[in-house]
Amino acid sequence: MEQFDRRKWLKTAGIASAMTLFGGVSLEGKNPIKEIKRKSLVPGTMVRLSSNENPYGPSEKARQAIIDSFGDMCRYPRMFYDELLTKIAAKEGVSKDHILLTSGSTEGLKVAGLTYGAGNGEIIAADPTFQSLMTYAEQFGAYIHRVPLDENFMHDLDEMARRVTSNTRLVFLCNPNNPTGTLLPADDLRRFIEDVSDKAVVFSDEAYCDYIEQPGYPSMVEFVKEGANVIASRTFSKVYGLAGIRVGYLIARPDIIKRLSANVVSYINVAALAAANAAIDDQEFYQFSLSKNKSCKEMIYTTLDEMGLPYLPSHGNFVFFKTGQPISTFGKAMAKEGIEVGRAFPPLNDWCRISTGLEEEVEAFTAALKRVMG
Ligand SMILES: Cc1ncc(COP(=O)(O)O)c(C=O)c1O
Repeated sequence: MEQFDRRKWLKTAGIASAMTLFGGVSLEGKNPIKEIKRKSLVPGTMVRLSSNENPYGPSEKARQAIIDSFGDMCRYPRMFYDELLTKIAAKEGVSKDHILLTSGSTEGLKVAGLTYGAGNGEIIAADPTFQSLMTYAEQFGAYIHRVPLDENFMHDLDEMARRVTSNTRLVFLCNPNNPTGTLLPADDLRRFIEDVSDKAVVFSDEAYCDYIEQPGYPSMVEFVKEGANVIASRTFSKVYGLAGIRVGYLIARPDIIKRLSANVVSYINVAALAAANAAIDDQEFYQFSLSKNKSCKEMIYTTLDEMGLPYLPSHGNFVFFKTGQPISTFGKAMAKEGIEVGRAFPPLNDWCRISTGLEEEVEAFTAALKRVMG
């Protein structure tokens, strides 16, 4: 990839800031985080709007908790699980045996893929969607029924339900969906779960559920509480800004959790547990992240509206928009401008997924997009 001059980029984008040039962004006066310093802000590095991270994290409290955990690094982490399990259980309104801590939600997705897919298990999933569970399961012999999204870019729930047979082991939902950012209508979702969860386990990937603004939107945890065949996954990677430290969890009936836990490979490390423990209590940062995400999404919508580029209103921390050119070409052109955009999501190859970032990064994206699209 062509070496990118961040200094030049800032100049052309018209947003030069001394702090940014030296690898830090001052957020003084905008509590709860004072300053971001990181290697990925050093001149010459790309602006990463490709992986739906939360660039404002980790919160000050999570950072301090990580530092404070150093002295406990000589211990195996199991003794620290209970504190986080207790907090998650209280938040979700379930008992601790309904929760499985995993190394990012990706490990939970893989564990479920292995548990239900191994040995010719059939899995039904929308397409495109977040693939981790399916690609992992395929390695163990699973057969995946990929059901194209409907004309509104939503999961085709009718077709997914129709495909369920006695061979179906798991039905995967991603809600809000990655890469489209779409949210299933609550009533359709309820009907689907009631119908399908009697026949197969329904897995609901809720990585982006914190960003849903619709009041009273149902979490799949409600179905878990009723004893349904449902697994929900959650993560500390998005709104909590902890993607690098790897903490997520699954919520399901205790018998399902027991079955899944047999396939877990890794422990959550002591620093990650400390970070998650602090983050889950940090309402100030949580709200701050939500509001930053909202304003950055608005900035992206405004740009796309101005440029007449179609996009899907998003319930996540990213926006999926139509460039009208192959993502391979578009991605390379944006990379030359210093902006790393989302990968290809076939068959929607002339669409692009752009993550929300720091406000200045979104401004840089806007400037680059205008240049690339002429
Ligand atoms: C829908 C979805 N699920 C899960 C993940 C993985 O997140 P984690 O960092 O918790 O492994 C992502 C990451 O982008 C995602 O988009």
